Amino acid sequence: MNKRKLRNLEVNPIGVGCMGFSHGYGEIPSEEYSIQAIQKAQAVHPLSAIQNIYSMVERSCEEEVIPYCMEHNIALVPFSPIASGLLSGKVNTSTDFSHNDDVRKFVPQLKKENLEANQPLIQLIETYAKAKNATDAQIALAWMLHKYPNVVPIPGSKNQERILENLAAWDVILTDEEFNDLDKALEQLPVQGFRGHVEFQGGTMADWGKRK
Ligand SMILES: NC(=O)c1ccc[n+]([C@@H]2O[C@H](COP(=O)([O-])OP(=O)(O)OC[C@H]3O[C@@H](n4cnc5c(N)ncnc54)[C@H](OP(=O)(O)O)[C@@H]3O)[C@@H](O)[C@H]2O)c1
Repeated sequence: MNKRKLRNLEVNPIGVGCMGFSHGYGEIPSEEYSIQAIQKAQAVHPLSAIQNIYSMVERSCEEEVIPYCMEHNIALVPFSPIASGLLSGKVNTSTDFSHNDDVRKFVPQLKKENLEANQPLIQLIETYAKAKNATDAQIALAWMLHKYPNVVPIPGSKNQERILENLAAWDVILTDEEFNDLDKALEQLPVQGFRGHVEFQGGTMADWGKRK
């Protein structure tokens, strides 16, 4: 089969759409189950990429899924890489999520108490943003681009300016030293509240709007 070059990784050009890993379509799979599910899918067709929640504040897939994907030349496509806007530093307790299609009103990490508790994290990101002449969102993306060669984040935005800002994260290059310091600092910072994982335990897509 032909291969495509994805940064320094060769991947298969055609993927199979698998929705089974998403928490929204059933119960939360454990990390162990995720690997089994990937292996089952691989037995049917080579996988080019899988999509998982991954960001500075939701790093569970670093334990097994990303190492497995690295070993098997599978790209990881992180959704919510800016943690629904939290890591941009632009969301605060006065941000209005009331618009009908704004799902952020259901994101526990964006509740007032969690936004306040996570300020040390935002301040940490801001320090790097200032030093690199970048925005907070760009640092959140540059961090994961530096960390893994097989990660291709898909930040979501309905705003042209922010789409361009997020794309320009590719040009924000952290040195190894900057990255190591940032990564170590992140490991030591507790994260308050969840986004799309623990709060969904046992839930389905139909429960999405009912969650407080
Ligand atoms: N597989 C799955 O289960 C799954 C689940 C969720 C999402 N997804 C996919 O992943 C994509 C991204 O996920 P997401 O939208 O949850 O995550 P995200 O990129 O972490 O956050 C998007 C939110 O952050 C804001 N934002 C984006 N860039 C910003 C910036 N530079 N500065 C300030 N605010 C910024 C956006 O607001 P504005 O629009 O106002 O810029 C939007 O409300 C979605 O579009 C979707 O295709 C997949």
